[in-house]
Amino acid sequence: MSQQTREQWGSRAGFLMAAIGSAIGLGNIWRFPAEAYKNGGGAFLLPYLVALLTAGLPLLILEYTVGRKYRQSPPAAFRRISRPAQIIGWWQVAICFVIASYYAVIVAWAIRYAGFSFGKDWGKEPEKFFSGDFLHAAAEPGLPTGFVGNVFWPLLAVWVLVLIILALGVRRGIERSNQIFIPLLVVFFVVLVIRALTLDGAAKGLDALFSPDWGALGDGSVWVAAYGQIFFSLSIGFGIMVTYASYLGRRSDLTGSALVAGFANSSFEILAGIGVFATLGFMAQANGVAVGEVVTDGVGLAFIAFPTVISQMPMGAAFGFLFFVSLAIAGITSLVSIVQVVVSAVQDRTGMRRVPAVWLVGGAVAVVSLLLFPTDAGLSLLDAADHFINHYGIALAALVFLVVMGWVLRRLRPLQAHADETSAIRLGVWWRVCLGVVTPLVLGWMMVDSLRAEFDENYGGYPGSFLAWAGWGVAVGALVVGVLISLVPWRRASAEDDAAGEPAEQGEEVR
Ligand code: ALA
Repeated sequence: MSQQTREQWGSRAGFLMAAIGSAIGLGNIWRFPAEAYKNGGGAFLLPYLVALLTAGLPLLILEYTVGRKYRQSPPAAFRRISRPAQIIGWWQVAICFVIASYYAVIVAWAIRYAGFSFGKDWGKEPEKFFSGDFLHAAAEPGLPTGFVGNVFWPLLAVWVLVLIILALGVRRGIERSNQIFIPLLVVFFVVLVIRALTLDGAAKGLDALFSPDWGALGDGSVWVAAYGQIFFSLSIGFGIMVTYASYLGRRSDLTGSALVAGFANSSFEILAGIGVFATLGFMAQANGVAVGEVVTDGVGLAFIAFPTVISQMPMGAAFGFLFFVSLAIAGITSLVSIVQVVVSAVQDRTGMRRVPAVWLVGGAVAVVSLLLFPTDAGLSLLDAADHFINHYGIALAALVFLVVMGWVLRRLRPLQAHADETSAIRLGVWWRVCLGVVTPLVLGWMMVDSLRAEFDENYGGYPGSFLAWAGWGVAVGALVVGVLISLVPWRRASAEDDAAGEPAEQGEEVR
């Protein structure tokens, strides 16, 4: 097999744009505003900031450092640190496979809704339209029994676009598309927020979002919510940032880049919070109800609450079009990064070239996505997969990763030295304390808390239901697949093992 040199970003700005594009996604637009509102409003910003500083930025720096040092995807990079650690890498790859398969579906919905905005096709009952006319969702969760063309075709288009971007490569595909999409997204969103702020009732919405409920700070679940939001939003814990950083040049600044990406993501998140709540304030005022009654998150916010507002506001069609196009753009740049983890892991493992790897592996994710989700069971399967893979995939893999790196293999000190070599800002002992102590404790608590909730009240209110089984199957399945792939013997050290990685440190596994 030919030795390939690893692709590289064209510039630091290009890398940053891609990292920011990955971070800014559905989590910023529909998850943050509702999380902030539910967890103390303005007071949520404090735990959010603490989570960003103690977990988000330190973990982002750690992932950049591992990626840049070993210049490989998570399984191969972790394997260089210690052979069994590759299990965590493959686990993250399997998690990305699952997330990509349903994340693309939401992007497809957003594209369809951008079109629906012109004629306000959802009519007077957006909720009924969404699950009935649009998704043809089955009344009871279960296995798919029929395809839904409304979703299938836009989903196919999303996959073709994403695979073309990936096939074009890191520089010509990922970097260039982010350089176009991210400025466009920011312009669209600024226009949306300005429009939202000029709506009647906007102040009422902002008041609801930012009025601090200081009492919430004494509630452990508020802190858990803040850490959960930071993980999902920054795209940390699922291998993306290790993968993106593996295409960095040897001398690139790591700590500074993490600070820029982290703060850019949070700024967008707060901007989105302002835009969404100003809009919900308008809706509450128009219907003579309290803002709390119209707040919802996720699917309900984008595909039910927003269509309702769009129908009621002046020039709603243009607003709706911009909102759904922004959602689709934010989703596509994140989706590209999620699929890239799977593609690059397989490339590093097999030595396969990019284009065949993209069509084969990216194609496999696309086929699973196209078979399962544009169906009458799609909505409930998506909901279950999202819940379980977030709680018992991303968060659990991040916890295991930190315990292994910090306590079992004790790699934090050498990695700190590696980051410091090329970064303008030097890391202090705080970095190791955050990663070795604070974040594992919070993640451990998160795990106990969500498991308790899981067993108290079976997921989706369906005791022993199909969905709970499907959700657990997906979460446990990702781990099992990770372990099984790790057991397949490696016949060759990859090209990067031999050629591009840093010289192995003493005691470091290289094969
Ligand atoms: N970070 C991405 C998001 O916020 C995954 O949606």
